[in-house]
Amino acid sequence: MTTLLGATHPLEQTVNLAELEALGRAALDQNALEYYASGANDEVTLRENREGFRRLKLRPRMLVDVSDVETRTTLLGLPVQMPIAIAPSAFHGLAHADAELGTARGAARMGTVMTLSTFSNTPIEAVAAQATAGFWFQLYLYRQREISAEVVQRAEAAGARALVLTVDAPFLGRREPNERNRFALPPHLGVPNAGTRQELAGVETESGSQLVNYFQGLVDKTVTWNDLAWLRGVTSLPIVLKGILTAEDAELAAQHGCHIWVSNHGGRQLDTAISAVEALPEVVDAVAGRSEVYLDGGVTRGTDVLKALALGAQGVFLGRAALWGLAAGGEAGVARTLDLLNEELRLAMALCGKVTVGELGRDLIRN
Ligand code: LAC
Repeated sequence: MTTLLGATHPLEQTVNLAELEALGRAALDQNALEYYASGANDEVTLRENREGFRRLKLRPRMLVDVSDVETRTTLLGLPVQMPIAIAPSAFHGLAHADAELGTARGAARMGTVMTLSTFSNTPIEAVAAQATAGFWFQLYLYRQREISAEVVQRAEAAGARALVLTVDAPFLGRREPNERNRFALPPHLGVPNAGTRQELAGVETESGSQLVNYFQGLVDKTVTWNDLAWLRGVTSLPIVLKGILTAEDAELAAQHGCHIWVSNHGGRQLDTAISAVEALPEVVDAVAGRSEVYLDGGVTRGTDVLKALALGAQGVFLGRAALWGLAAGGEAGVARTLDLLNEELRLAMALCGKVTVGELGRDLIRN
């Protein structure tokens, strides 16, 4: 936004995701900030997601024609402009008045996929209409299975390209700031995809995070690998299991015909769980090309994207980074986040002597 004095909005002056994060944080009240920022317990895994990337060192190659670097790729066969997309996260209405519509427009503007959370403040159909580069839909399996079936059918009818089943949250991790300050969704924000019979904004609790109380009532804690057959029975979409961290579970996921999203839920679930990027190689090895593998957790630099792809990820997904962008400037902030990261990736690829994402392999990473 240009002012009368010719100064530009701080958003356009940001040079990296850390600056966007600072802008985004400054735009949020304590309730929203603590919800987005916090991890479980001591937040060891939250920090390790970033540190894991920093510890990996690159082995760049020289004297390659890098005059034309291309970051385009595909996600489940869908062409995208970059190997970077939006991870699901709840309640974008806490970040910006446009809520998930802003996120969807930002992703669409940059030609990439948004994953819409079940716990969005905007109905699936409205988000789908804005997500012109494609969207995936995240879900939990509810105790009332008919609500899950209904939401899956709505997502499929709205044009979702994949279902992302979150498998690391039978219970929510304990984010202590949310417990201490009783995280609550403001009354003006609804949860239109989480089952019309439940409204988080209306849940009254005596103590702790309102979300935890709501979530515990909804989500089925008995879900096992056997329940994937139920999901297969209600959808023909590809199924991505989000929250896989081991070779053992990657093997089971591939056997069940699922794609795999390496994640520790942004350090919000099991604290001291392995960082996402450190879990990635054993997952990729176990899958051995049978399924696509994605990653979220700690991606804030183009070199992080490069490292994840070099280790075998088909794409990376942004959780908090997208939320900071959304809070900083709605659609424009999300687009700025994706653009900065993609341009960092492009430069990192050039400086590594790589011109397509298909050339990124493990030789780039020091053992
Ligand atoms: C969370 C859940 C809702 O991390 O995914 O808060």
